[in-house]
This record gives sequence, C-alpha cells and structure tokens, in this order.
Amino acid sequence: MAEDKQLSGIRKVVIAGTGSYLPEQILTNHDLAKIVDTTDEWIQTRTGIRERRRAADGEVTSELAAHASRRALEAAGVTPEEVQLIVVATITPDMMFPSTSCIVQDRIGATNAFCFDLEAACSGFQYALDVAQRYIATGDVEIALVIGAEKLSTFLDWNDRATCVLFGDGAGAAVLRPADDGQRGFIGSVMGSDGSLAGLLGIPGGGTALPPSIESLQRGDHFLKMEGREVFKQAVRCMSDAAGRVLEKCGLTIADVKWIIPHQANMRIMTAIAERLDVPIERFYLNVHRYGNMSAASVPVALDEAARDGSLESGDLVLFVVFGGGFTWGATVLEW
Ligand SMILES: CC(C)(COP(=O)(O)OP(=O)(O)OC[C@H]1O[C@@H](n2cnc3c(N)ncnc32)[C@H](O)[C@@H]1OP(=O)(O)O)[C@@H](O)C(=O)NCCC(=O)NCCS
Repeated sequence: MAEDKQLSGIRKVVIAGTGSYLPEQILTNHDLAKIVDTTDEWIQTRTGIRERRRAADGEVTSELAAHASRRALEAAGVTPEEVQLIVVATITPDMMFPSTSCIVQDRIGATNAFCFDLEAACSGFQYALDVAQRYIATGDVEIALVIGAEKLSTFLDWNDRATCVLFGDGAGAAVLRPADDGQRGFIGSVMGSDGSLAGLLGIPGGGTALPPSIESLQRGDHFLKMEGREVFKQAVRCMSDAAGRVLEKCGLTIADVKWIIPHQANMRIMTAIAERLDVPIERFYLNVHRYGNMSAASVPVALDEAARDGSLESGDLVLFVVFGGGFTWGATVLEW
C-alpha cells in the first residue's frame, strides 16, 4: 500500500482511547411537534432522525467536553497530566474567548497541555484529528486529546422548523499517541474548503460582521441559519469526492474499508453517498436517528460507540468523511 506522502519517514499515530457524553434530556420528534408545526413522520422521512439530546440550562460545552474527555483518558489508560495538547473542535464555544479548550484543560486537570480551539463546523473533529496527529507524527507531542463538543441547542431558533429539528447536543473525544511497532494508525487524509458558499450555513451574528445589539437579537442573527437544499447537494458531492480521493491517495479501495463513519447530518445524505461510493449502507456506522446532527461531536460520538459496542476490531480500516459550514469537508483513513 502506498504511504501517505506527508507522513512517510515520521512517526505513525494511533487512537489509544475514545469517550463520549450525551446529555440526559431526550427530545423526541413528538416533543418537537408540540413546539413547531412539524410531525414525527416528516422528520423521520426527510432526515432519519427520531430523537436528539438537549443539554440542561447551565450545562455548557466545556462540561460536555470534559465528561467525554475523562472517559477517553480512562479508555486510553492516560492521566490528565500526561496530555500535552488539547484541541477542541466546536462552533458553540462557552464564550468568544478564552478558548473552550483552556476551560476543558482546567476542568480535567491537564496542567501540562497547550490548548486551542479549531473551528471547521461539522468537519471540525476530522480537521482537529489531522492537526493533532501531525504534532505527534513530527515528535513534538506524545499525547494529544482531541474533542468535538457542541451545545447547539443554545443557537437554534426554536420557532424555525426547518432547522430546530435537525440538531442535537453532545461531545466525543479521542486520545492520540505514537503507534507501537507494527501499528499503522493514521494512513492518510484529504481536506477541502469553499468560502464562496459561506452564506449557506452559519450563525451570522455575534462577531464583527453583525455585532450583538438589540436589533440583531430581535432579528435572530445569533441563531443558526441554513439553506437546506443547497447544503444537501454540496454535502453529497463533497463527501463522496473526499472519500474517493483519500482512498486513491492511500492506494486503497472502498472494499478495503470495514467501517465508514460519516458526519451524521441526515440519513438521506448518507444513503446518497453510499450509492455514489457503491457500498452498502450497512457499512456506514450510523447513530443520526438517536442524536441528530451534533456538528463536530457527531463523528467522535459515533467512533466511541463503534469502539465500545465491538463493531471496531483491531486492524479494521476506518474511513471518516465529513462536511460542514464554511464550506469545509474532508476524509481520513486509519487502521484501528
Ligand atoms: C433540511 C432538509 C431536511 C429539508 O428537506 P427538503 O426536502 O429539502 O425540504 P425543503 O427545505 O425544500 O422544504 C419542503 C417543505 O417542507 C417544509 N418543512 C421544512 N421543515 C419542516 C419540518 N420540520 N416539518 C414539516 N415541514 C417542514 C418547508 O417549509 C417546505 O414547505 P413548502 O413546500 O410549503 O415551502 C434538507 O434540505 C436537508 O437535510 N438539508 C441538509 C441539511 C444538513 O444536513 N445540514 C447540515 C450539513 S453539515
């Protein structure tokens, strides 16, 4: 197999442990039908989602992240003090700054880490993995903690049926370390972005473009906005292309891959990608029906569930494929 050019000659990196955390409160489609003009049937047929989690008032993103991180550290057999780098992927930080990663560092006692947030919307966890594994591959870091955490419920317009039914809260985390002899770990990745489509998906208010004001609050600029149809088309195209390109780059075919862990936005997006890749949907590890779209948390939560329920076995090839606001997209292949 061809090696990833960017990684040849430097250290291989593995995921040593994963963890996730889902808030207790379950919001079903029937619950939503009491809030907005929708039905369980509409949501299920258009998206595959049956329910999602909602964090409690005051339960902030860094708290979700810290719960997931403790579980990942325990699974990896790593103490918080051993962590040298924390990257948090999120579009729903506790605050504009300081970074959520610094707050997580304090919550879990990772006193020896340097920390930063990374914003690539729903692609964030894959981007963060890519960055963190390169720090380890080059020998600058031994142990990294990569987290995808979101409290999207804060930024949803609960009067907008076209968006509020799609998203949920949650967090997932992975501990990265150098591979032992013979372990392959991360094999390769591709990423892409197209800022010309930024206006199709995002939270426009609260920054320098539309600073907080009484008028901006009244307009709801601080809520997530999306052009669903156009996002759908781009997501299918970009994720299918990214999956194909990373396999080609690594000298693999889709038949070599045991599990595809996609960003879990919508069941119909995943079915369309499966058709384009000519692979049965059963090879996709799916949990969108239980959690909805958790943005940067979707992939790490699915990864953790796949690891814990025995779906993933040592030596399996796994393909992450993601898409999100920006637009951003990417795909990574690794050996579990
Ligand atoms: C959001 C999405 C499910 C909407 O499905 P769609 O088939 O494109 O539906 P449309 O937006 O064209 O809306 C069709 C109708 O359903 C209505 N509708 C929208 N949300 C609804 C809801 N929750 N319940 C009932 N009806 C709804 C619309 O108002 C529209 O009604 P109209 O024809 O009377 O105007 C779909 O576009 C989608 O999944 N997009 C991608 C979203 C995504 O994954 N984003 C994140 C990527 S990281």
